[in-house]
Amino acid sequence: MAKRVALITGITGQDGSYMSELLLEKGYSVHGIVRRVALEDPDHHLWRLRNVLKDLVLHSASLESFASLHRVIRSVKPDECYHLAAQSFVSYSFEDEFSTLNANINGTHYVLAVLHDLAPQCRFYFAGSSEMFGRAEEVPQNEKTRFHPRSAYGISKVAGFELTRNYREAYGLHASSGILYNHESPRRGYEFVTRKITSHAVRIKLGLARELPLGNLEAKRDWGHAREYVKAMWLMLQQPVPGDYVVATGENHSVRELAEMAFSYVGLDYSDYVTVDAGLFRPAEVDVLQGDASLARRVLGWKYELSFADLVREMVEEDLRIYRERRSAPAT
Ligand code: GDD
Repeated sequence: MAKRVALITGITGQDGSYMSELLLEKGYSVHGIVRRVALEDPDHHLWRLRNVLKDLVLHSASLESFASLHRVIRSVKPDECYHLAAQSFVSYSFEDEFSTLNANINGTHYVLAVLHDLAPQCRFYFAGSSEMFGRAEEVPQNEKTRFHPRSAYGISKVAGFELTRNYREAYGLHASSGILYNHESPRRGYEFVTRKITSHAVRIKLGLARELPLGNLEAKRDWGHAREYVKAMWLMLQQPVPGDYVVATGENHSVRELAEMAFSYVGLDYSDYVTVDAGLFRPAEVDVLQGDASLARRVLGWKYELSFADLVREMVEEDLRIYRERRSAPAT
């Protein structure tokens, strides 16, 4: 039987790398869209794909260019498309609302429009976000909770979600959205609070930093492991009918608890090192996010079994490995 063909946008990111590994294990031919600069500087841009790079087919294109997406999709003819690319840092979306909205909304629209024209049988996954709930009117949130986004990022994700739903209803595309809560891993970018905290705890322990400035310590999030969340994305595209699903652990923890736990793994007391920097507060904060993933468990058979402590420990251990290695590397 011919191999199934998958196309991933945002393949160089945390979720793209885990998704590539999952699809390769399942025997797919895996293609990814990357920016040209990533191909020119692979050490810097493709580190998350290092273990699987030789098994992937990468295409240079831009989510800002309909023509480039058209070219890639025409040549790849995917059976499944995982649209993970986005400007995904909420804080940055306050600094540049316009480019966040342009990239995230138009990028999604372009991919949907090209699939509709060239590969209407292709199954499509849209990376929705719990940020769409924003100032949520209930805790926990489920697929019926009203959206109230609190940032340009959240607004762009609501637009992408509605575009996805409309391509499903108007044109019969097998298009699904995951409403994913925060998902982390040792591949997380350093700008996000989990990695910022685990990397600083380790650097302080090793004498490479002295303090950790943070914003709102009382914000609560439902933090899961990215490697488990990409399984839910794949399961959505294996269903006979498309749909929208919350993917979450069902627990929430505060930024303060996260800091306390990460520092205690390296034998430190967070309160001796964490400072509060008013400049790191967001103009509109999302105070509490906690998801109810019952539908994903029931319909997709998705399960999440890791604990928050396991996740934090794995991230701290990876940062210990990285910074110890860097410290002992000979100076060049
Ligand atoms: N990044 C960051 N840096 N966040 C901080 C800091 C800090 O110094 N101090 C406190 N926080 C708080 C933020 O205000 C927020 O309430 C929380 O920590 C989590 O921030 P992030 O890790 O930046 O993630 P996020 O919740 O804004 O968004 C992530 O999760 C979404 C799903 O809910 C991103 O991955 C989004 O792309 C994703 O959609």
